[in-house]
Amino acid sequence: MPLRRLPLLLLLTLHGLNHLAVAPAVDQFTFDGFAGANLSLDGTAAVTPDGLLMLTNGTTLLKGHAFYPSPLQFHGSFSTAFVFGIVSEYADLSSPGLAFVVSKSNDFSKALQSQYMGLANAANNGNASNHLLAIELDTIVNAEFGDMSDNHVGIDVDGLSSVAAENAGYYEDGTGAFRNMSLLSRNAAQVWVDFDARASLVSVTMAPLALPKPKKPLLSATVNLSSVIGDEAYVGFSSSTGVVASRHYVLAWSFKMEGPAPALNISKLPALPFTIPKRPSMTLKILLPIASAALVLALAITILVIDRRRRKYAELKEDWETAFGPHRFSYKDLFHATDGFSDTRLLGVGGFGRVYKGVLPASGLEVAVKKVSHESRQGMKEFIAEVVSIGQIRHRNLVQLLGYCRRKRELLLVYDHMPNGSLDKFLYDPNMPVLSWSRRMGIIKDVASSILYLHEEWEQVVLHRDIKASNVLLDAGMKARLGDFGLARLYDHGTDPHTTRVVGTMGYLAPELGHTGKASKASDVFAFGVFMLEVACGRRPIAQDAHGEHILLADRVLEHWRDGSITDAVDPRLRGDFVVEEASFVLKLCLLCSHPLPDARPGVRRIMQFLEGNTPLPELSEAQLSVGVLALMQNQSGKILRKGEENTDSVL
Ligand SMILES: *[C@@H]1O[C@H](CO)[C@@H](O)[C@H](O)[C@H]1NC(C)=O
Ligand SMILES: *[C@@H]1O[C@H](CO)[C@@H](O)[C@H](O)[C@H]1NC(C)=O
Ligand SMILES: *[C@@H]1O[C@H](CO)[C@@H](O)[C@H](O)[C@H]1NC(C)=O
Ligand SMILES: *[C@@H]1O[C@H](CO)[C@@H](O)[C@H](O)[C@H]1NC(C)=O
Ligand SMILES: *[C@@H]1O[C@H](CO)[C@@H](O)[C@H](O)[C@H]1NC(C)=O
Ligand SMILES: *[C@@H]1O[C@H](CO)[C@@H](O)[C@H](O)[C@H]1NC(C)=O
Repeated sequence: MPLRRLPLLLLLTLHGLNHLAVAPAVDQFTFDGFAGANLSLDGTAAVTPDGLLMLTNGTTLLKGHAFYPSPLQFHGSFSTAFVFGIVSEYADLSSPGLAFVVSKSNDFSKALQSQYMGLANAANNGNASNHLLAIELDTIVNAEFGDMSDNHVGIDVDGLSSVAAENAGYYEDGTGAFRNMSLLSRNAAQVWVDFDARASLVSVTMAPLALPKPKKPLLSATVNLSSVIGDEAYVGFSSSTGVVASRHYVLAWSFKMEGPAPALNISKLPALPFTIPKRPSMTLKILLPIASAALVLALAITILVIDRRRRKYAELKEDWETAFGPHRFSYKDLFHATDGFSDTRLLGVGGFGRVYKGVLPASGLEVAVKKVSHESRQGMKEFIAEVVSIGQIRHRNLVQLLGYCRRKRELLLVYDHMPNGSLDKFLYDPNMPVLSWSRRMGIIKDVASSILYLHEEWEQVVLHRDIKASNVLLDAGMKARLGDFGLARLYDHGTDPHTTRVVGTMGYLAPELGHTGKASKASDVFAFGVFMLEVACGRRPIAQDAHGEHILLADRVLEHWRDGSITDAVDPRLRGDFVVEEASFVLKLCLLCSHPLPDARPGVRRIMQFLEGNTPLPELSEAQLSVGVLALMQNQSGKILRKGEENTDSVL
């Protein structure tokens, strides 16, 4: 039996020998993306599902390596090209960087992370026994290695002290002008490393992805490669993180012995991920590079600093929000836009929160930022979806909602800034100019058309829920715009029906809200009726008499109407300078809109027709507005006042 097996055994052995003997030495390869690539990886290195070679994964103080799996034979020149990208959690601060490596060994288990870039440690840095050549893309100044800047490219032999270094950039073909590049730009860039064996010259060239290889290299150095690595070596990449969570990526890589590296197909490259930049502090920039002896202390301090910084600008962001990306502002931007939410920028304090004036740093756009405190996460998703859909509502008489930002317990809403402020100032502040009757009519029509849009013309019905003079803002041309729409909804979501809080403002709340708590188009119309009374009469909807009793403005007007002197209710500051028929018409329209029974109130389309003069107002009868019903209305309002929180003016 053993004999019968022999030929097979022999065959296998021969086959094996044959394979070893003639396996051609690898002398070139190309990876246009690394999906499915056979690489030997260690530490944090991994290939992402979309084909990025990720050397570090965003966890601090770790290292990662990726090597071509078998060593290559080095007898002469070689050339390599690769595309890299660094994504740091901060815009201008990162972890040390990454390096292309040619090394006798692929075991870097004793190398350190942080400033040693996974290549060496304090004991062996620079020792010829390391047998390595590295091209570093370095984003930190390390004084111990004589680093020139926090954005340099270096040629390293056996350690991190470069034999040659230059600031990242390239020489433009033609003009020969030097162009800076930022290693931390979050844009992928290409690097070429060429070793010319005859001249013992290592040259490094880099350029933005869009450009072909520049003719003039960024830097060169004489290196006796065979004495450094011998004639067999691994090629690959090394990277590490320090205290800043960065990701170092290689997107594509090609290599060739004795000839130019194969061109990379840029159109095939996987996309670099993007994260939101945060600002580092100066302390951090100074602390980071200090030598390893002080590293532990430095670490503790920097982590504290970063942590404080992180908390200062911390936002709350969940997966579902990526869909709303464009509508999201960074807290940092809003913080800077409003001078850190300084009191000098305070425009007003409203029922839903404080409102600040801001100037967006990038665009110079003037905005109003409303800070709404919000405890519950419940219904937040629906609400943000609504904010975003509201952001799509554009109408000349609505204050444009530009976007939002979310923090723990805080929601920030960003609106167009309205230079003339809120209407109630003009109505009630004796120092403000008196609005003429015609302007008041204009304002009433403006607001009616905004409600028409929200109720009838926008693709979904949007209830405002808090129509009142202080929510009407005046733009630069003194045109009225309704603000804060839909916001009341935030306090309405996810609450159970038995504990429904009535949202809105005392005096504007339709009586049925006391029973049902359910807002409707009719309850918006009720509030609009009260708003028109306010504009015509220049009085607040509820006043207190000498005995502390609440007096409804609607009641006063109704009494005047009964006495046949309805126009006596018009704002005395106008000194009779108004059109009597118009005033009488508006006041009657107010009473109709603020009718105690929701079914008796006209829809906003009809109101618009009345205001345009296309439809005459129906005659009001005493029976329709009977005292009994009015009493009911008053009672209900009183109840609401006790039950709900009083909602003070809100200003944008
Ligand atoms: C990064 O890799 C290390 C070890 O390889 C792992 O412990 C860590 O959780 C990873 N971090 C992330 C953010 O995936
Ligand atoms: C990867 O390459 C190594 C070395 O060339 C080889 O031994 C191994 O079988 C390869 N693995 C795969 C999955 O191809
Ligand atoms: C370099 O490393 C070798 C081997 O690890 C060691 O014997 C030698 O002392 C080191 N040289 C220096 C200058 O540290
Ligand atoms: C290029 O970068 C270096 C180092 O960061 C800086 O000193 C220099 O001013 C920059 N030059 C230009 C033109 O931006
Ligand atoms: C490079 O180093 C090797 C071995 O140390 C030596 O034999 C050779 O002469 C050197 N080459 C040059 C160009 O210096
Ligand atoms: C680059 O890749 C694209 C997409 O796979 C392909 O259509 C194109 O022919 C390639 N270009 C070259 C020069 O190989």
